[in-house]
Amino acid sequence: MYRSHVTKLNLGLLFAATLVGCSSETAPRVLTTEERLLVEFEAAYSESGPVPEGEVHFELRASPTEVPQFDDAPFAVWAYNEQVPGPVLRVRLGETVVVVLQNDLPQPTTIHWHGVRVPNAMDGVPGVTQPAVEPGESFTYRFTPKDAGTFWFHPHVRGSEQVERGLYGVLIVDDPEPLPWSRDELWVLDDWLIRKGPELVEEFNTRRDLSHDGRWGNVVTVNGNYRNELEARPGERLRLRLANTANGRIFAPDFGELDAKVIAVDGLYTSEPLPAEGFEISPGNRLDLDITIPKGSAGQAFEVVDRFTRQAFILSRIRVSGDEVETPTFEAPRNPNIPEWNEFEAVELDAEYVLNARAGGKYGLEWTINDVAWEQAVIDEEFGKLEAGQFHRLRFTNASARLHPMHLHGQFFKVLSRNGEAVSEPYFRDTVLLKRRETVDIGLVPLDWGRWMLHCHILEHAEAGMMTAVDVPKATSE
Ligand code: C2O
Ligand code: CU
Repeated sequence: MYRSHVTKLNLGLLFAATLVGCSSETAPRVLTTEERLLVEFEAAYSESGPVPEGEVHFELRASPTEVPQFDDAPFAVWAYNEQVPGPVLRVRLGETVVVVLQNDLPQPTTIHWHGVRVPNAMDGVPGVTQPAVEPGESFTYRFTPKDAGTFWFHPHVRGSEQVERGLYGVLIVDDPEPLPWSRDELWVLDDWLIRKGPELVEEFNTRRDLSHDGRWGNVVTVNGNYRNELEARPGERLRLRLANTANGRIFAPDFGELDAKVIAVDGLYTSEPLPAEGFEISPGNRLDLDITIPKGSAGQAFEVVDRFTRQAFILSRIRVSGDEVETPTFEAPRNPNIPEWNEFEAVELDAEYVLNARAGGKYGLEWTINDVAWEQAVIDEEFGKLEAGQFHRLRFTNASARLHPMHLHGQFFKVLSRNGEAVSEPYFRDTVLLKRRETVDIGLVPLDWGRWMLHCHILEHAEAGMMTAVDVPKATSE
């Protein structure tokens, strides 16, 4: 199984240092805090036994089309394979994903594999990891996911327009030995700003979107359905995967009487099942839940209500019918090796990213990171460097009154503190929400070299400049 040899190397050296200490009759060398944090991380990403091999081929054709939406009225979108959400790509851990993207859009595009630890060249960032795919052209993505879980994909060109128009889909990487869930279900959450027709409002990156928390739609869909319902039988045990593909909207699902436990955040398992109360799903985030439908609930419908805004609304219903089934019993999947990193404060900050807005730029308002607005053209710059296989502490400081779900490509991180107070989140993430004027410290051990984007996942904020990169240089031994 994949384990960065960079990390192995470092840990190997730590071991050697300790052993040498022993044999020469002096006390073993005391590890530094950085080294202890690294030891905690050593088994962080789940290891599994033998995994299957082989390639799984997919084709994704991006094109303008119409889909039945909003009470079946034809609705003009841009879509992968004429579906919104796009097709679910599903592989098993160990298998290689090969995706031929055919661009039949009137604009250049790319695909970014959100949350998947891919080789840098497969990361889908135009001008950084690949040239954009021009209309009429195609590009082949090829990578072997290193983690099982729920991921998604979307363009990284004019995201605020292309994702809003319907270009997104989910990638599921199954564990080598999937557990016997009664059902494995997916809810892709999105919202749309439409007017009568129905038709999509085609003014993108408006002043209003930019000065607020991006573009929030007036209709919410789950799996493209305006009134979504999931059918289940009493006693069934569901793995329910949620993915937020909206440009700006944040969801806070309330499962009411249902006992819902979070088992994975942003694809990776948590250290133990966690109560779902209080979890917020920002653009980019995924949440996997373990839900057992109570026996004796046939004929009932459970409502899942969104409570992020003051106007609560029904996100979806779970309608129970049919004969009772035996509830499968197994221990929910978990990752006991999530590092605690309690000692993080002893490690100096490697970088601070101050998030703010100012007048200027092509939209009249720019979103900046350390007073710089990202420009597609400026890519030869030097960015902050993070050393592979080493612990790093980064800080986001939100100097604005808006929301910023910050996403880092190519690595997982752990939230260490909010507003100076240590927090214990027993899981990794790839996107963390900063509320107004909030400060968040994260810890990470980068494993894969390359230039990785760091940006706000409110796509209008990213479009208006809120994007930067970090460089993980190739170790000289590689
Ligand atoms: Cu899902 Cu760079 O983003
Ligand atoms: Cu933002």
